Amino acid sequence: MTFFGIDNATVTYRGLRAVSNVSLAVGEGRIHGLIGPNGAGKTSLLNAVSGLVPLAAGRILLQDCELQNMPAHRVAASGVGRTFQHAEIFSDCTVLENVMVGGYARRRSNILGDVIGTRRKNAAEREVRREAEELLATFGLRDVRDAIAGDLPFGILKKADLARALMARPRVLMLDEPSSGMNNVEAQEVIAACRRIAGESGVTLLIIEHNMRVIMDLAEVIHVLDHGEKIAEGSPAEVQKNALVIEAYLGRRAGHA
Ligand SMILES: Nc1ncnc2c1ncn2[C@@H]1O[C@H](COP(=O)(O)OP(=O)(O)OP(=O)(O)O)[C@@H](O)[C@H]1O
Ligand SMILES: [Mg+2]
Repeated sequence: MTFFGIDNATVTYRGLRAVSNVSLAVGEGRIHGLIGPNGAGKTSLLNAVSGLVPLAAGRILLQDCELQNMPAHRVAASGVGRTFQHAEIFSDCTVLENVMVGGYARRRSNILGDVIGTRRKNAAEREVRREAEELLATFGLRDVRDAIAGDLPFGILKKADLARALMARPRVLMLDEPSSGMNNVEAQEVIAACRRIAGESGVTLLIIEHNMRVIMDLAEVIHVLDHGEKIAEGSPAEVQKNALVIEAYLGRRAGHA
């Protein structure tokens, strides 16, 4: 049954269609992949779902709620989280601080409570810190806890971005190339972490990935975009042998061969 759905989504930039009538449906706790060549529209689709760019048409569904064209903070508050292709982090802050930011996003700010409830606020802060430290351990980031993020390699920032997104306790988490900038060992660690997240916490995952080994290993269903359109979907085995997918990736070269 559909838990998270994208229904006929279209995204345009000054009239140019980056995403065209794309639909996909993900069951609760499932891991789906979203692949396609460079410029296929994958990030644009995630940006539209998370309210960072407008949807020209279409609907975004989470259980019984329609999220299309909500501002980004309301989409996040509804339970749809994401990571960023380029790991959007605060480069002047420590890794711990960056991860803790995700925990505050889920807490409603309450000015009166902040003024009169200092003790409660301190307790909440300790709780956010404790959760952040747990996630740092999960992603092997304890050693860089107090390092300034801007000084660290991209692969580490990607892990911190993932930890930050999890701090918000999303019901759906969309990951934009989680293993980019990582070596094979790190990529395997990220796969294992994603499996655990889906298995233990029941978080529904939609993962954009260029590393085919990673996504074929991880996703139960893969949706394929090319030039903004969905050209295929199915199990990793089905998608790998789909002629349109092979054409999209090797396409013009294979056509000339
Ligand atoms: N802010 C923007 N303004 C105008 N055009 C954009 C913008 N963002 C993306 N595009 C264009 O939209 C199309 C889809 O880009 P998008 O970044 O969504 O692709 P992608 O599948 O994520 O690619 P990649 O695998 O390289 O990350 C491309 O033609 C891109 O140049
Ligand atoms: Mg992208």
